[in-house]
Amino acid sequence: MATIIAPSILSADFSRLAEEVKKVTDAGAEYIHVDVMDGTFVPEITIGACVVKSLRKETDATIDVHLMVEHPETQIESFAKAGADIITFHVETTKHAHRLIERIHELGCRAGVALNPGTSVSAIEELIEFADMILVMTVNPGYGGQKFIESMPSKVHMLYHMIDELEADCDIEVDGGINAETSVIVREAGANILVAGSAIYGAEDVAQAIKDIRGKEIIHSHHHHDDEDEEGYDEL
Ligand code: DX5
Ligand code: ZN
Repeated sequence: MATIIAPSILSADFSRLAEEVKKVTDAGAEYIHVDVMDGTFVPEITIGACVVKSLRKETDATIDVHLMVEHPETQIESFAKAGADIITFHVETTKHAHRLIERIHELGCRAGVALNPGTSVSAIEELIEFADMILVMTVNPGYGGQKFIESMPSKVHMLYHMIDELEADCDIEVDGGINAETSVIVREAGANILVAGSAIYGAEDVAQAIKDIRGKEIIHSHHHHDDEDEEGYDEL
């Protein structure tokens, strides 16, 4: 599966958002990742649906909304109407994840479910066949520029196997501390959508940063428990 790059505008200059979006899409980024924080689920407050509505007029790129909010059921409709293509909520914020996925689909969007670093993949196992994407947080949500948590690739790999076994059509997105080095690790583990904020917007040459994060395509063999080139994940 080809890798998709989703620059997070959290690290962009908010006073020049349209230009900042154009800069990364001109450089080949497929998605625009929008980090929505409510000051409750995570400490900061960032972007509301009105910003997505304005961005929708400026770009044809896939708008990938990452809701880091309590009560996501109250926000889904506004973001869908504002023009979001993908809406992802955190499984930790709802007792009714399946219902929320259905609601997102009814509104014409793709549905993602996000997992904090401390949440096990077993929390979303039953959702894999319904969701379009699972977002594995590789830092604790809340801020850009944090350090990648080294144990997360094995979680990505577990998820990759679950999806493979179910033969489900479900993307794996990773978010937090992604750069040219950590990209290789998460792509080998099975992630196909890579969010990056500081590594892209903090780079002098944005196009080069995107190219470095995208890296070379990794060919995954399916049911690869006994593949010799899969060392490092055999213990799973
Ligand atoms: C973290 C956000 C991320 C963040 C990533 O709460 O969900 O999308 O912007 O930033 P970097 O790539 O700098 O870790
Ligand atoms: Zn995010």
